[in-house]
Amino acid sequence: MVPILRSVASLRVQVAQWRKAGLRVAFVPTMGALHEGHLSLVKAGLAEADRVVVSIFVNPTQFGPNEDFAAYPRTEEADVAKLEGAGAHAVYAPSVEEMYPAGAATTVHVAGVSDGLCGTFRPGHFDGVATVVSKLLNQAQPEIALFGEKDFQQLQVIRRLVKDLDIPVAVRGVPTLREADGLAMSSRNAYLSPEERATAPALHRALSEAAAKLQAGAEADPVLQDGIAAILAAGFGSVDYLELRAAEDLLPLARLDRPARLIVAARLGRARLIDNIPVNPA
Ligand code: PAF
Repeated sequence: MVPILRSVASLRVQVAQWRKAGLRVAFVPTMGALHEGHLSLVKAGLAEADRVVVSIFVNPTQFGPNEDFAAYPRTEEADVAKLEGAGAHAVYAPSVEEMYPAGAATTVHVAGVSDGLCGTFRPGHFDGVATVVSKLLNQAQPEIALFGEKDFQQLQVIRRLVKDLDIPVAVRGVPTLREADGLAMSSRNAYLSPEERATAPALHRALSEAAAKLQAGAEADPVLQDGIAAILAAGFGSVDYLELRAAEDLLPLARLDRPARLIVAARLGRARLIDNIPVNPA
């Protein structure tokens, strides 16, 4: 059985034992409700390290007051079974009290990359992510930490904080895993009704169509407007944003003149879906 560690102290003891034995440790932070996308992070960790620890913690500080913290799927038993099958060596699943003991008063704010995109629509979200990821990396002290590219803005926020806070870890972004029809795998896909699930691949379709037009030399603005119209026409309730951003620093681009990402967030029923694809000048 894969051990489930509930305290910072037990995590530290485990990692210290591995380190003493000369083993390299990879860390995969998650909020549980695991799917194949998460397991691909474990697989990527196993390819680079001798031991892989996966955290399962639904982090309250990254949810806004009207968001889905209470409803977020919590499926620990099934998650642990999947992680065991995937070859993870330990699960770190602390309580909220262990992560945020009474009196905790520090927040990590990453300026710049946290602004705009999801930062506009989810105020405070990236402060919550940056704070818990800083804590998790300090608690586990792994050599490698792996994150999905599906949350591309989150990945850039984490890269920035690791650099700025001199955290000695190599951050790896792992490409998004998709269903056969293009829908990005996400724990929040569980919120979709069968009808909404049939509509959802329109998001990835709109990204792919926009990427082709940009690569053919079109200006970004009309392409993005067309993309938003296509997502709404497919049946999404609203589009928070569809933007072309520089891959490195997430600055807005008027045309495709450097490696970039097309990034989208849109609402379908009670799900808010995000996705992005790389798009590079021809
Ligand atoms: O991407 C997630 O699941 C979360 O934002 C993370 C990185 C585990 C922090 O809570």
